[in-house]
Amino acid sequence: MRSIYCGQLNADHIDQSVELCGWVHRRRDHGGVIFVDLRDRKGLVQVVFDPDDAAIFTAAEHLRGEYVLQISGKVRHRPEGTVNPQLPSGEIEVLVKGLSILNRSDALPFQLDEADVGEEVRLRHRYLDLRRDTMQKNMRLRHALTRNLRRYLEDREFIEIETPVLTKSTPEGARDYLVPSRTHLGHFFALPQSPQLFKQLLMVAGFERYFQIARCFRDEDLRADRQPEFTQLDVEMSFVDEEDVMSLMEGMLRDVFKNVLEVALPDPFPRMSYAEAISRYGSDRPDLRNPLELVDVGDLMAAVEFKVFAGPANSPGGRVAALRLPQGSALSRQAIDGYTDFVAQYGAKGLAYIKVNEVAKGREGLQSPILKFLPDDVIASIMGRCAAEDGDLVFFGADKARIVNDALGALRDRLAADLGLLKEGWWPLWVVEFPMFEYDEKAKRLQALHHPFTAPADSSVDRLDSDPAEVLSRAYDIVLNGSEIGGGSIRIHQSGIQQKVFAALGIDAQEARQKFGFLLDALKYGAPPHGGIAFGLDRIAAMMTGVASIRDVIAFPKTQKASCLMTEAPSVVDDTQLRDLNIKLRKPIKDD
Ligand code: AMO
Ligand code: AMP
Repeated sequence: MRSIYCGQLNADHIDQSVELCGWVHRRRDHGGVIFVDLRDRKGLVQVVFDPDDAAIFTAAEHLRGEYVLQISGKVRHRPEGTVNPQLPSGEIEVLVKGLSILNRSDALPFQLDEADVGEEVRLRHRYLDLRRDTMQKNMRLRHALTRNLRRYLEDREFIEIETPVLTKSTPEGARDYLVPSRTHLGHFFALPQSPQLFKQLLMVAGFERYFQIARCFRDEDLRADRQPEFTQLDVEMSFVDEEDVMSLMEGMLRDVFKNVLEVALPDPFPRMSYAEAISRYGSDRPDLRNPLELVDVGDLMAAVEFKVFAGPANSPGGRVAALRLPQGSALSRQAIDGYTDFVAQYGAKGLAYIKVNEVAKGREGLQSPILKFLPDDVIASIMGRCAAEDGDLVFFGADKARIVNDALGALRDRLAADLGLLKEGWWPLWVVEFPMFEYDEKAKRLQALHHPFTAPADSSVDRLDSDPAEVLSRAYDIVLNGSEIGGGSIRIHQSGIQQKVFAALGIDAQEARQKFGFLLDALKYGAPPHGGIAFGLDRIAAMMTGVASIRDVIAFPKTQKASCLMTEAPSVVDDTQLRDLNIKLRKPIKDD
């Protein structure tokens, strides 16, 4: 239907006859001449309707935004003074000789080039939202990303294998999406939270190098970087150790960042232990663009009379930490109160601080409601350990370690955002040496920090029975600018160790058999050592495009409440469908 794309036309095409198809992006009437910006997937070109051709001109008078046109015409220079240097086709226009209106359009619920359209209306009319230039660019960048990932892996002899979506629960720590079975009443499929078990079985099956761009489903609290249905680049390899997986995967990230964004990521990526990340940043996904760091001061506080500090300093699971904000003494009382409220969300009971006016003057040079509780030598040690300088402010957190880490970790991010402290560029980081387990306060038992198929570190494997809380794992996470973009591990490939790990997690032999019998069986038939990783593809695409939410790189995303405003899914179903599934709702649900 067309001879060339609108967005491809330029001065090289002057005097050529062309056929174009596209949408009316804008229509302008200029004293007897009608101009239309015609848009297709490659861009815009100005087309001109001349009153000399009465029939076409009359038709053009009825054109409206987003009408779909096919035109034929001749490319010519724009008149002097009307050249638009912003547009690749800005030097030329097309004088229309033939017009057919392929379709009309109602008035749009929002203008495509309006800047601040509410997300609700965008999601409701996603097919229109996707026509916008930014969304077209986002989807194209995402395509470039996946194409490059596939090429990199294919060049290294990985093969792409699909795994089931109707399957059995895969424990990644979220709630499952369930699908009732009609042929086995009362039985349910679970949608996979990841292809974890299948990719391990593919290693048992001898494929050695697998990848998949896989959809995963997790029923969890949603945020800007979490969707109930999201995409992983999932990878698994046999006969490898951590170094093999990590070096191949950081090579892949360097390769795609170079090809897609022309950005050179560091070589190699820095690494940090989980313990160090928590100690310095209060988080296992620290944003290294942020120069602020936490410093432990618990040992200095053990003997002070201020209970708020001495309590946690003397209790085993407690932490007292300081966070120095360079040149922070200018913060107003109101701003500090604001941050105190902010950390309260993370369970902090307060936010002590010291304003550093003149370090050299000791106590006299400082300003703080807590100074009176602290002896001179302690004050001097704190200032020394934080490397405090004149004009700084030092915040303190004291509580259970988890609360201090969460609160000061979040405050660190918040201060950097508020005060513009983030450095430029891309800052990847491998976080390694994770504990195998973490204690779940609510359930009063150990949980897997990654998933229960992660191998324990050789050095601590003999403590699995006696002291599981001290066991380190062979897991690794990859963090980029404070976002966890991927995680993986070397897996357990021996059925005996797998059963020990289940036991440490309080999963008895019977439950293990019922839930993961197929895996335990498979491990008995010559399972090779293996390991892998999965990346959050939506997150990487979002970071590469610079959008704030992964919704902007997903064609048809769900809302924060896990619904689709366009299709209105989830929705109620027919009674007959429910009857077929032997499902009886406890009370009828009205569709609203
Ligand atoms: P994990 O649970 O860490 O590991 O997931 C891997 C990566 O997927 C991304 N991600 C998400 N992205 C969007 N929305 C979500 N709800 C969501 N949840 C996770 C994150 C995360 O780093 N089977 C293991 C991997 C392995 O061990 O190989 C797994 O799924 O970027
Ligand atoms: P109070 O004696 O409770 O008024 O607290 C004195 C100072 O310590 C105030 O600035 C509080 O915000 C702060 N504070 C109280 N509890 C904590 C805590 N758990 N961690 C850090 N600072 C705290």
